[in-house]
Amino acid sequence: MHEIYTASSSAPVNIAVLKYWGKRDTNLNLPTNSSISVTLSQKDLRTLTTVNSSRNFEKDSLYLNGVSHSIENDRTTNCLEQLRSLRQQLEEDDPNLPKLSQWKLHIISENNFPTAAGLASSAAGFAAMVAAISKLYELPQDASELSRIARKGSGSACRSMFGGYVAWEMGEKLDGTDSKAVQIAPPEHWPNMKAAICIVSDLKKDVSSTSGMQTTVQTSELFQYRVNQVVPPRYSQMVDAIKNRDFETFGTLTMKDSNSFHATCLDSYPPIFYLTDTSKKIIKLIHTLNDAIGKVVAAYTFDAGPNAVIYYESENEEVVLGVLFGVLSNVDGWNEMNSATLKVPEGVP
Ligand code: PMV
Repeated sequence: MHEIYTASSSAPVNIAVLKYWGKRDTNLNLPTNSSISVTLSQKDLRTLTTVNSSRNFEKDSLYLNGVSHSIENDRTTNCLEQLRSLRQQLEEDDPNLPKLSQWKLHIISENNFPTAAGLASSAAGFAAMVAAISKLYELPQDASELSRIARKGSGSACRSMFGGYVAWEMGEKLDGTDSKAVQIAPPEHWPNMKAAICIVSDLKKDVSSTSGMQTTVQTSELFQYRVNQVVPPRYSQMVDAIKNRDFETFGTLTMKDSNSFHATCLDSYPPIFYLTDTSKKIIKLIHTLNDAIGKVVAAYTFDAGPNAVIYYESENEEVVLGVLFGVLSNVDGWNEMNSATLKVPEGVP
């Protein structure tokens, strides 16, 4: 009977406030612009992954929410190859180490939220997998270095390697070695920041982000304007807004950037529609609320799906959630709303 080596890690979902949309290298997952996100709390939306390794295992396998998934895809293979080669270097330096790099892996993952409904499930999934395997392999690489590996699984996954406020620096190099995540500020920097997740639909999205991005890159003229003119100044404004805990600017930029990203989707040919009528009602509602109060107290953002994430500060929770619940509970297609606090002091363990 051979020993089984095991390690577990969990990674939360991150929700971009400056969106990544477009790849300049589809194989290495190199983006056409830098992006910024907020990592949600571990207790709300997260993937928990356990990896087992034994010389007895015959093949790599992956179970997601109890269902077997193929591991024979470039995204997963890229990540596994790189992690194994880092482990192999350790084994060459220390011949007493078990040869985990040669053995097959059994990966078991569980999401506590709907998979592939535009709630960044692949981000949490790849981040948790990379974190768990690097723990199993006892790799010395830090979170930023590991983020380059997670990036190859799913671009936005690199940002889930950190808690709090995170930037994915697009980098310039052709080999992608400078395209990695860095932490702008830890979660405790802005302790009263909160996010409400509005699940408009938990169905799988009909256009995956990978294929949607390619259509946009290839066909949208507005996209060129976005990556060249809009995002670069917005990036530094967003970093400053986070550092200064300036919700008015943070919220305004977040909403504008969500709208800009969805505008490039609409400008793609054929057009890509991620927002539904319910999503649009949420947008209007937040603008009406902010106008009524006379300042930005709530900010919406939507990824590649109809579900909204609403950022707000805790002192405004009653008014923000009150308005959302009050108006949306009667809307068709409305299922559920959770309020998630943003506290992930430990990042990915
Ligand atoms: O990481 P991907 O390939 O799932 O793409 C994510 C794209 C958006 O969620 C729409 C934006 C972002 O920056 O997370």
